Amino acid sequence: MREDDHEFGGQHTEIKLAIVEKYLKRYSAALHTWCDNVWYIDAFAGTGSRTVRVKAKEGDLFDEPAPEYVEQRRGSAKIALDIDPPFDRLVFMDSKPRHIAALNTLKASYPGRDIDVVQGDANELIQKEIKWDGWKKTRAVMFLDPYGMEVEWDTLRLIAETKAIDVWYLFSLSGLYRQAARDLSKIDAKKERALNRMLGTDAWKSELYSPIQPAKDLLGVIEREEVRQRDADVAGLESYVRDRLAQIFPRVLEPWPLPPKERPQRFSLFCAISNPSDRAIKLAEQFGRSIIDSM
Ligand SMILES: C[S@@+](CC[C@H](N)C(=O)[O-])C[C@H]1O[C@@H](n2cnc3c(N)ncnc32)[C@H](O)[C@@H]1O
Repeated sequence: MREDDHEFGGQHTEIKLAIVEKYLKRYSAALHTWCDNVWYIDAFAGTGSRTVRVKAKEGDLFDEPAPEYVEQRRGSAKIALDIDPPFDRLVFMDSKPRHIAALNTLKASYPGRDIDVVQGDANELIQKEIKWDGWKKTRAVMFLDPYGMEVEWDTLRLIAETKAIDVWYLFSLSGLYRQAARDLSKIDAKKERALNRMLGTDAWKSELYSPIQPAKDLLGVIEREEVRQRDADVAGLESYVRDRLAQIFPRVLEPWPLPPKERPQRFSLFCAISNPSDRAIKLAEQFGRSIIDSM
């Protein structure tokens, strides 16, 4: 296995990375007109590469058959390194030692660039390090691209408090609807803790679930006790998450559904702006619109 081997995601990964790349290009160009400290922080950075298995093709009248092959494409860390004008500093975090080794190799291939590669749990690292006076003169984009439900609410809250970071957050809606079972009583203590950690509250129990009256037979004998059932479908869960984010970030752009056409949608790609100034918000909205127009 190559050090930078990293097979993850599906076809939607291509779209996700294309959206983030477009944002990074616009962001870096616009911010560098007035700021000398423009950073990129990749909290779940991977290896810098994405291993893609291209399926074998059967031959037909026109084309020869082609065997399956594997190719390495750019992952988010490498995409960010290639942005022009370049980010002044890049911070790559990952919990996996092999991924850290690959990120260090990637760093060595960009001599002269200010790159930090940090091993550890992204939540712990961010929560420990993010409070900093320097945010007044620094702006950053942070990419939160976990496999599942790893991002903690406290992490998001502290990012929002910097008032300096735009966050791209791949939110696992499928993770949420798997954990938040239809019937509230089916959610065990472990799942409940995971949901609290991800949503930053236990209010979801009353906000997402409604009581269903006990079922009685003709004689009034209770056949089923009162249950609490989740009303929200996938779209409802997405707007619940968006509303939660909007409680800590001054602006949350319309999320991108991923994969774009598959239903039920598995992910929502959120962009949340922590800088409350009109200028920062308008700029982010403008980037968002121009990305939609370009897709
Ligand atoms: C979906 S991949 C990121 C892919 C990357 N954005 C790219 O485009 O190449 C998720 C990464 O998060 C890392 N990871 C998982 N849990 C983590 C945690 N708690 N803290 C930091 N990294 C973590 C994994 O090792 C993996 O490399």
